[in-house]
Amino acid sequence: MLICSQTKIAPSILSADFARLGAECEDVIAGGADWLHVDVMDGIFVPNISIGIPVVQSLRKATDAFLDVHLMIDRPQRYVEDFCRAGADLVCFHVEACQPQDIFAAIKLVMKNEKLVGLAIKPQTPAAVLLPYMDYIDLALVMTVEPGFGGQSFMYEQVDKIKLVRQMLDELNPDCHVEVDGGIDPHTAAAVKAAGANVLVAGSAVFNKPDRAEAIAAIRNA
Ligand code: DX5
Ligand code: ZN
Repeated sequence: MLICSQTKIAPSILSADFARLGAECEDVIAGGADWLHVDVMDGIFVPNISIGIPVVQSLRKATDAFLDVHLMIDRPQRYVEDFCRAGADLVCFHVEACQPQDIFAAIKLVMKNEKLVGLAIKPQTPAAVLLPYMDYIDLALVMTVEPGFGGQSFMYEQVDKIKLVRQMLDELNPDCHVEVDGGIDPHTAAAVKAAGANVLVAGSAVFNKPDRAEAIAAIRNA
């Protein structure tokens, strides 16, 4: 079975209680989460500021869980190695945040650090921009909201793009994961899974629920 045929649920800690972050992470891992999704925002690439390298370092000490780091920062090539060293298992950055010549450079920096690498695209960005990089990446992230904030509504018009990215990867790099991020709940999860997504990020639909195990199971079984 291909790695990418198994659905993974990646709760986004953006919706966690940051004052209790270690306990919040333990709760979702005990509740069946496969990965922890860490949203890094710089107030420039997106109109919000969240967390950065020291938090990844602390999480790495606190848990063995797979840390899926989503960089929503301008010119990510400046920081990808720092996030690798801090303990990220996968570093994903946006094609829109880089000059074209810097995308390969940033991919190589992550590979040099022996971590998985992902490329993300915003809702307005066509799937085709990923083509030149598809041979080299471990994950393609299709945003299903405008990046920047948790709790937004899922953009159903992205579903066709998820299908297209999965089809392109089936030709070029079938083991590459397809991740979706934004507005994922038990209702929207069914649509993205049917379209070929296998890593489902969910922030508010997990952390805003009292029973995280139940919330994760509802998304997984959608
Ligand atoms: C948005 C972030 C998401 C966000 C998802 O920019 O990348 O990971 O936390 O939150 P929900 O699941 O609430 O849409
Ligand atoms: Zn994210």
